[in-house]
Amino acid sequence: MSTDVLILGSGIAGLSTAIKIAKQRPDLNIIVLSKTSEGENNTRYAQGGVAAVWDFEKDSYEKHIADTLDAGDGVCNVETVEIVVKEGPERVKELIEWGARFDRETDNTEYDLAKEGGHSEHRILHYKDLTGWEMQRTLMAETALHTNIRVYEHYFAVDLITQHHLGYNITRVTPGIECYGAYALNRQTNKIETILARTTVVCTGGVGQVYKATTNPVVATGDGIAMVYRAKGRVESMEFVQFHPTSLYHPSGENPSFLISEAVRGFGAVLKTRDGKEFMEKYDKRKSLAPRDIVARAIDNEMKLRGEECVFLDCRHLDKTDFLAHFPTIYEKCTSIGIDPFKEMIPVVPACHYMCGGISVDLIGRTSINQLYACGECSCTGLHGANRLASNSLLEAMVFAHRIADDIVQQTDRIAFKENIPPWDAEGTQDPKEMVLITQSLKELKEIMSSYVGIVRSNVRLKRALDRLFLLFEETETLYESTTLSPQLCESRNLITIAYLITRSATMRKESRGLHFTTDYPNELPFVDFSIL
Ligand code: FAD
Ligand code: SIN
Repeated sequence: MSTDVLILGSGIAGLSTAIKIAKQRPDLNIIVLSKTSEGENNTRYAQGGVAAVWDFEKDSYEKHIADTLDAGDGVCNVETVEIVVKEGPERVKELIEWGARFDRETDNTEYDLAKEGGHSEHRILHYKDLTGWEMQRTLMAETALHTNIRVYEHYFAVDLITQHHLGYNITRVTPGIECYGAYALNRQTNKIETILARTTVVCTGGVGQVYKATTNPVVATGDGIAMVYRAKGRVESMEFVQFHPTSLYHPSGENPSFLISEAVRGFGAVLKTRDGKEFMEKYDKRKSLAPRDIVARAIDNEMKLRGEECVFLDCRHLDKTDFLAHFPTIYEKCTSIGIDPFKEMIPVVPACHYMCGGISVDLIGRTSINQLYACGECSCTGLHGANRLASNSLLEAMVFAHRIADDIVQQTDRIAFKENIPPWDAEGTQDPKEMVLITQSLKELKEIMSSYVGIVRSNVRLKRALDRLFLLFEETETLYESTTLSPQLCESRNLITIAYLITRSATMRKESRGLHFTTDYPNELPFVDFSIL
């Protein structure tokens, strides 16, 4: 197959990029791959909403910029922050034009703007607690209107095609690495297909499945970041893994963990210990609405001090009718497991939620590899720094999708298809004899990451994690070389790479900053940017 533009991923980043290109250039062919169904991704589970300056009487770009920089703890790229905050409202308006609904106030005149941790103003547009699904639904409907976009479901991208596949020795310092498309596993035929493209955009989302407890669906296995790293592209800031403070505690574990949106705290819910005592004032004057890194660490500390497996979110004082209008899904989930939020406190625990680092990109989403862009959660634009401000992610994806599309429509005609790309070489591989080898490695990986590279880290824990990761890496590579490819094998290989990148980056950062907290350097040292790998 060949296409002008190949987009890996059909979440907000992938579909927004595809639509934006299709609108400007109906003559370009665009293929979007999704490794499962088009609508299954992190985007669809977004609850809280999308942050954008909307009410200019109370809010301003300056305030949103200041909040983003404050959450990012000194390592945001200020230029990126300004771009996303200032261009964001325009992108949200476009989505509304394409049919997205956001809740309005009861008199139906203005949008009902919510507040979340770290925001100084109410600026979060939302649709009940189903904002992500509303956005994904809108994007899929808009995509379907463009005949030059073809969405291929159940196509698993395995590797990016570069000069390496033409027999050249490519290293991390080789200049001029080029991307010619990707090899992808067609899950219907179980064959690996070569998809040639003039430009490729990686929009493969997050990495949450590298930890035992995560709010991310099972598709979030960091495939795009791992593929770019293997192709010797630049990846950065991987130590900044965001743990959401409040996922619903489930005694036997649930994958994914169900999120109790930060908007619930914005609505007035308060974090308490089992005995009903508030504790957040000990950690930050913004209490339950402090930025996520602070709240997650505070909860982790309280749990350890008390030997408890969770803390609690008290909603009992809130107006029931209003709560049900805002959070129907959360209410339904709680009651489905026997918790009535108006009679008892909701047990909550931090869970891995968002990767702030990822594939390094410039201000128009270009990676260090020519003809390769990255957008959305898999990319690192510099917006989030050491800790993402709530509801800034969907906004970032829309702003960068627009910028990438503008660049692609100008550049694509100048790029020729690469010829003589060899087909995928599966020689010497056989069907796996024991799938348990893959599932067991994955279990071990999650255990290692959760025990040693979680919210609180130390040199000893990181060293222990790296030692164990090397063993898993070697075993999985041996399996990879001898086994017919399957999504499970590729995902576990990718997750091992992600785990390595997180742990290695964490080891290199000799300070505590934002989401990276280490007991060996509890106080901040002068900042040195070690994060570019
Ligand atoms: P995704 O939406 O995850 O899409 C990734 C796509 O890549 C999928 O289509 C997948 O099939 C495809 N893919 C992956 N690997 C491959 C492969 N190997 N081959 C082919 N296809 C592949 N952010 C906010 O701003 N506001 C919120 O309120 C909010 N709430 C959230 C709540 C939850 C529970 C979660 C999990 C996240 C939330 N976030 C929120 C974060 C936000 O939803 C994500 O960061 C964002 O949706 C990521 O979009 P994306 O397009 O980059 O990735
Ligand atoms: C939430 O609703 O709490 C998630 C918001 C986000 O991740 O930005």
